[in-house]
Amino acid sequence: MTVFSKAQIKKLPKAELHLHIEGTLEPELMLKLAKRNDRPLRFKNLQEIQAAYQFHNLQSFLDIYYEGANVLIHEEDFFDLTWAYLLRCKEDHVVHTEIFFDPQTHTDRGVTFSVVIHGIRRALEKGKSELGISSHLIMCFLRHLSEAQAMNTLEEALPFKDWILGVGLDSSEVGHPPSKFARVFETAKQYGFFIVAHAGEEGPPEYIWQALDLLSVKRIDHGVRCLEDLRLVDRLREEQIPLTVCPLSNIKLKVFQNMSQHNLKHLLNAGLLAMINSDDPAYFGGYLGENYYQCAHALQLSWQELKTLASNSFIASRMQEHEKNSYLAMISQIVL
Ligand code: ADE
Ligand code: ZN
Repeated sequence: MTVFSKAQIKKLPKAELHLHIEGTLEPELMLKLAKRNDRPLRFKNLQEIQAAYQFHNLQSFLDIYYEGANVLIHEEDFFDLTWAYLLRCKEDHVVHTEIFFDPQTHTDRGVTFSVVIHGIRRALEKGKSELGISSHLIMCFLRHLSEAQAMNTLEEALPFKDWILGVGLDSSEVGHPPSKFARVFETAKQYGFFIVAHAGEEGPPEYIWQALDLLSVKRIDHGVRCLEDLRLVDRLREEQIPLTVCPLSNIKLKVFQNMSQHNLKHLLNAGLLAMINSDDPAYFGGYLGENYYQCAHALQLSWQELKTLASNSFIASRMQEHEKNSYLAMISQIVL
């Protein structure tokens, strides 16, 4: 069995389609922004932050993730956060990224939608011109909040519609099914937004059905629990609905006990359009390259399977067709 090096994995151009920008807040930047903005933080140093990153499920992570986001106040903070992520993209040969942001995490604290999106957007423009990385923005509704709050957020987004590709659904999954937001997503669809939703991360296959049938999603974020329902697998395969799988996230949040038990290879073998993403890399121990590397080793992926995963990331992206095709051609020609 070939053991692939990080340098070999780096040869593959990649797109990242499931990345929460708030989840790229590294402990160093968290401490720096807490000081710069004079925000109280219960962690005194890096060791205390790292020691707190022991999660037993999605909710135990979300509690700390929302706490960390409290240090983000000014446009410059959102710029610094996004720019740091783009520099990591460059290191991992990520050439295109479709980034989630959670407006309600900030607007509920009095930070305006405008501040958040201007900071992120400025970094994305610099990323395009200086690093050659293309990008889109997808705003997510927090599913633990109400339908009315999501609808308000959708309205707040409208002045910035040209900067936002789509809408998604994230936060605490179990107990907050997609059906809760059917009317919000119907309105978003009428405005022309691209539609995605987290489903089947901790929640049951029924939530994936609902995301498809009630929200009309074009991609499922996570979706790993689909294998529990063979009729659902048939539907996802027939329609080639992309699954934005996040392996290191799934291990840290105990969706699978370890990487060798992750079902990524089964998803590929079932003919599903799955690819690798990093979700919240500052919290889960690695960016996109590290996710590829750990999957390659633990699941003994072949070079062809790694190429399929990288190709799927472009096929499932919202890049222009001619750009997609040029990356697909590039990947097909890469030899070890
Ligand atoms: N928000 C940030 N990361 C998330 C995840 N993995 N699942 C749901 N909501 C999230
Ligand atoms: Zn996510």
